[in-house]
Amino acid sequence: MCGIVGYIGEKNTKDILLSGLKELEYRGYDSAGIAVLQDGDFQSYKAVGKLVNLEEKTKDFITDKFAVGIGHTRWATHGKPTELNAHPHLGESSYVVHNGIIENYAELKQELTNEGVTFLSQTDTEVIVHQFEKNLKLTNTAFEAFKQTIHELHGAYAILLVTKSEEKTIFFAKNGSPMLVGINAEDEKYFASSDTPLIGHCSDVNYFEDGDYGYVTNDAIIMYDKENRAKEPSFKKLSTNKLSAQKDGYRFFMEKEIYEQSSVIADTLLGRLTDKEVVFDELPASLFEGINEIKLCACGTSYHSAISASYMFERYSKVKTSVEVASEFRYREPIMSKDTLFVVISQSGETADTLETLKMAKRAGLKTLVICNVDNSSMVRLADAFILTRAGVEKGVASTKAFASQVTIFWMLSIYLAKRNDTLNQDEISRQIRLMREIPSSVKVSDDMHEKIKRLSKRYLHGHGFFFIGRDVFFPLALEGALKLKEISYLHAEGYPSGEMKHGPIALADPELFTIALLPQHLLYEKSRSNVEELSARDSTICAISPIEFDKADDYIKTKTHEDYMLEFFEMMLVVQLLSLEISVRLGNDVDMPRNLAKSVTVE
Ligand code: AGP
Repeated sequence: MCGIVGYIGEKNTKDILLSGLKELEYRGYDSAGIAVLQDGDFQSYKAVGKLVNLEEKTKDFITDKFAVGIGHTRWATHGKPTELNAHPHLGESSYVVHNGIIENYAELKQELTNEGVTFLSQTDTEVIVHQFEKNLKLTNTAFEAFKQTIHELHGAYAILLVTKSEEKTIFFAKNGSPMLVGINAEDEKYFASSDTPLIGHCSDVNYFEDGDYGYVTNDAIIMYDKENRAKEPSFKKLSTNKLSAQKDGYRFFMEKEIYEQSSVIADTLLGRLTDKEVVFDELPASLFEGINEIKLCACGTSYHSAISASYMFERYSKVKTSVEVASEFRYREPIMSKDTLFVVISQSGETADTLETLKMAKRAGLKTLVICNVDNSSMVRLADAFILTRAGVEKGVASTKAFASQVTIFWMLSIYLAKRNDTLNQDEISRQIRLMREIPSSVKVSDDMHEKIKRLSKRYLHGHGFFFIGRDVFFPLALEGALKLKEISYLHAEGYPSGEMKHGPIALADPELFTIALLPQHLLYEKSRSNVEELSARDSTICAISPIEFDKADDYIKTKTHEDYMLEFFEMMLVVQLLSLEISVRLGNDVDMPRNLAKSVTVE
């Protein structure tokens, strides 16, 4: 997730921008930059890596008079994390910073290139400043040019733009990515992606809404809404606690990240779906040439998303698929054939076991693909190709939004391959794409659902263990639910295919064994239901998660009726995540930093 800051005032603009970016480090980044306009001149600095590199570059830069300035920390989505791709991006006499994804950047870039504009970066962002300067030549004022530019952009964005033609002004626009403006008694104006950089500097803040755009000077905020109607800012008092501000008011980062899944998946999908096909610009067309098998390899939660992928690749893409636990694969002297595409999945891109299997596959001459959340990580740099999940930094050790974005990518990739292999007809491909577009709404947390789970969790604080059970893609979801619970509540839980109960585990059934049963309406419901009835008949305590009322359950969490089982998957994912969270809270555990665990396991 990128971070944006802006400042208009008489104080030390450079220090204000750098300290603001420091407050946004928690959002994760791989490069940073600032641009300051004072006395009619721009100074801009950019650096790859941590902010200390940018501080080093700017140490002799003095900003001791009135200035306007913008700054940015970049989490790469289009283009590698290099200095050229770092923001701010320069036109001829303007700079821009941006958080989000410009879906139509390719068309705009093509038009501008045809008109002779030279692009320096691979980013989507750079089209904004060149489009603005193109419009500046066609309109009477910088604001008209900015307004025209914003109306030509499709996608998600939070934008700040400064230009020599309006030296005391910052232009802003917000649509889908967060941004706010803060004020104080000294007529200073502060912008940021979240409120932490403003704490201690501003008394009041206005959170921009989608479609808001306009400009700010040191004595005015001129704002318009998405209908182009003039709009007054609605200021609220700013909180003073930075840590709670980073959590955006949630109790834990994990809770915040569960709630973020809706917007995260919207980002994961952005620019990758048309009505007729899935598009992965980042994949070389040759990647799948000569491939007859896919082998997926990962650890932990990423291994669970890999199992869900295996069902989709075989069902939709008709590609033989197998899944490996990386720590096992490393040492079992596996047979690897060159017609196998070796896919590693990793949130961090640094997990030692997974990284080693990637090296094994490379040594064996296999084509390799990584599904990862961190650009420029070891795995991204090593694999032949990569797909970024765009989940933003995940601070909770127990993975949630990264898992959700991985499964989303795999659903897209299975349909991408189905089109390439001609294993689904166009109607079905279009239907699948229409369903994918509903994922963000299926993972939106409802207050009723969360409240129900919070109340229910008090009944599950003891017992001698949990079974999470499900069939087909709900089996890896059962594994994931069990892992979440173990990780943060320290209670014992196992995930099982529902059909396995009678092969031994049912011997454990009694009232102190809690079974969390995933009962989707659109996938093997009757089979799953009879498995649960076997447990219920032996007095296991059952919590059924289903759109269909289940009379033999002791507890029942009702999920929505969806058109397809994959949307049921995402909603039930939400339920098991929230259930583990609320049980852990009641047990008084450290939800974000559970005992014995690390966020990235970079050792064997
Ligand atoms: C997930 O909740 C765990 N924290 C852990 O299993 C994690 O998924 C595993 O260590 C793999 O990490 P990676 O995705 O960064 O490779």
